[in-house]
Amino acid sequence: MTERSGSTVDIRIARVTPANSALVTALRLAPEQMDFVASNAASLREAKSDRDARPRAIMAGDSVVGFLMYEAPRDDDEARIYRFMIDRAWQGRGYGKAALRQVLHEIGALGHISHVSICYEPGNDAARRLYRAAGFVEEGLDEDGEMIADLVLPAAAGNR
Ligand SMILES: CC(C)(COP(=O)(O)OP(=O)(O)OC[C@H]1O[C@@H](n2cnc3c(N)ncnc32)[C@H](O)[C@@H]1OP(=O)(O)O)[C@@H](O)C(=O)NCCC(=O)NCCS
Repeated sequence: MTERSGSTVDIRIARVTPANSALVTALRLAPEQMDFVASNAASLREAKSDRDARPRAIMAGDSVVGFLMYEAPRDDDEARIYRFMIDRAWQGRGYGKAALRQVLHEIGALGHISHVSICYEPGNDAARRLYRAAGFVEEGLDEDGEMIADLVLPAAAGNR
């Protein structure tokens, strides 16, 4: 649950299905944000040919408000969140933070993942703050100039 302006909204993530995929591809970013992440249509096309891709709609109640995609291959202890967006009309309400919590919970429940990586443009202040607040630690730039950050999952930290 997340609360802003006195109203409480249930944020959850759901599989992308034929019933909600058009709503996912209709989500929009502000023009200055469009270079931060691939279009959702491109991500869903990519997911069709990548068995490791796990695309998820971000739901606020019955509304599709965002999209994320991650992979968590069974032969690896690392998951990678590589798409994450909240529609421009729904930003700034705590939905990104709540969705990140949900996907980390889903990844932790898989049972074989000990840490999660995420990447973003170094100038993407909103993403940096969001991920840092969730415990991601910046590791440096990759060969494409994107910042890589990593989070050790709490259960794994306690067990290893
Ligand atoms: C990054 C993004 C997903 C955040 O979603 P959101 O729902 O607006 O974020 P929230 O309202 O949950 O805010 C969570 C935290 O993010 C940070 N944040 C969000 N918007 C911000 C902004 N415009 N400027 C600075 N920090 C911001 C804040 O630290 C905020 O926590 P706080 O409110 O306690 O200070 C959203 O801005 C987005 O879709 N951006 C474009 C796509 C993108 O950059 N994706 C990430 C790279 S893959």
